[in-house]
Amino acid sequence: MNTIKSYVETHKNRFIDELIELLKIPSISADPAYTQDVIDTSTAIKNSLEKAGCDHVEICETPGYPIVYGHKHISDHLPTVLVYGHYDVQPPDPLDLWESGPFEPIIKKTEIHPEGAIFARGACDDKGQMYMHVKALELMNATGQLPCNVKFMIEGEEEVGSESLAWFVERNQEKLANDVILISDTGMISNTQPSITTGLRGLSYVEVEVTGPNRDLHSGLYGGAVANPINILTKMIASLHDENNRITIPGFYDKVEELSTEERAEMAKAPFSLEEYKRALDIDAVYGEAGYSTNERNSIRPTLDVNGIWGGYTGEGAKTVIASKAYAKISMRLVPNQNWKEITELFKNHFESIAPAGVKVKVKPHHGGQGYVTPIDNIGYQAASKAYEDTFGVTPIPQRSGGSIPIVALFEKELKSKTILMGFGLNSDAIHSPNEHFGIFNYLKGIETIPLFYKYFTELSK
Ligand code: BES
Ligand code: MN
Ligand code: MN
Repeated sequence: MNTIKSYVETHKNRFIDELIELLKIPSISADPAYTQDVIDTSTAIKNSLEKAGCDHVEICETPGYPIVYGHKHISDHLPTVLVYGHYDVQPPDPLDLWESGPFEPIIKKTEIHPEGAIFARGACDDKGQMYMHVKALELMNATGQLPCNVKFMIEGEEEVGSESLAWFVERNQEKLANDVILISDTGMISNTQPSITTGLRGLSYVEVEVTGPNRDLHSGLYGGAVANPINILTKMIASLHDENNRITIPGFYDKVEELSTEERAEMAKAPFSLEEYKRALDIDAVYGEAGYSTNERNSIRPTLDVNGIWGGYTGEGAKTVIASKAYAKISMRLVPNQNWKEITELFKNHFESIAPAGVKVKVKPHHGGQGYVTPIDNIGYQAASKAYEDTFGVTPIPQRSGGSIPIVALFEKELKSKTILMGFGLNSDAIHSPNEHFGIFNYLKGIETIPLFYKYFTELSK
């Protein structure tokens, strides 16, 4: 056994126990009730980076949650890897759908994870995946095989838009100077077919409000005679897609990058079973834009989805009422070349223009960000590919993901470096859902694969 494998084998129980401790802290960035827990998590990360062998670790204050920064410098003549991750997590609700407490981590075996998986909010997204990097640093230090300089930047606001991180990156270009950015906050195809994420979608998130009469009305006395904001809102939302499930906002597709037939054929080679996909979700058919496959619809095509809609009476029994207001939260996933601010503007103008007389419409933009594509002809990608090949025995497939990490495009703009997305999660790990989990196999494989990325990246940089 090589030194990496044997170190992981010797210390794996401690690696798991340490992650479990981290998962017990409810670092929910979206909910102010958990402010102290989010801050406590940053301290825990700082301590773990110090123990793993960083020369210097600090908690960097920002207008929002702190950023943990650490580094180990070996030589000015060696490359520098910047590791990014996030220690905040999504709210765990709905709580009644969890089989165990979201912040009481337990290990259970599943069909996909026969060696067990850790169930807890943040297990995969992103505490578990971020902590693999801390343990990989410990391993490289302890076994004397850290081949280059390393910097860590772990934030606490990813799940709410990374506003403070953008502020921090813009002010600290020199401190964060690097040759490549390494992130584990995405997934791979399966435990037998690894993949490297080469694309992330952009995002525009908006909230809309439709106001009709100035107060809630008796639906008998006024029904039929005034615009009902809920009827109107649902009609307006329905009109945002046409019969081919294409988005009807004028100009929405203008800048969308169209892939060549060759590129699409290459994408289609990735192993995928539509039958299994439907079975896993209990659906009898998939649904989406005409002319594109399921994997294209969820990666290279833009989308518009209602994430939440409310208004009127939703309590027990029946109340006859026409609400004064109706609301919805809408996300648009964007693809390369679509500018999220431009799309937000197009949405706002269009949505306001389709409002009929009798209602007022307000569009409130939330956060957003640009998409990202990693080219596969750079040494970062090649180093990652060789690393996975060594530990999985199979060449990883490049694959674009449908998810978003908006800060990655900003890294490229401000720090001028490419990001390599070495994810070890699986789509079935239920991130953002009840019963989120992370396979023990995946966690340990990640710790084993990351040091090889450093090794190959340093070699290829020469
Ligand atoms: N780690 C995810 C993004 C992700 C997951 C990308 C799996 C690819 C594969 C990240 O934490 C996340 O949830 N991002 C948000 C966007 C953010 C602005 C709230 C998302 O994609 O909804
Ligand atoms: Mn994440
Ligand atoms: Mn997330």
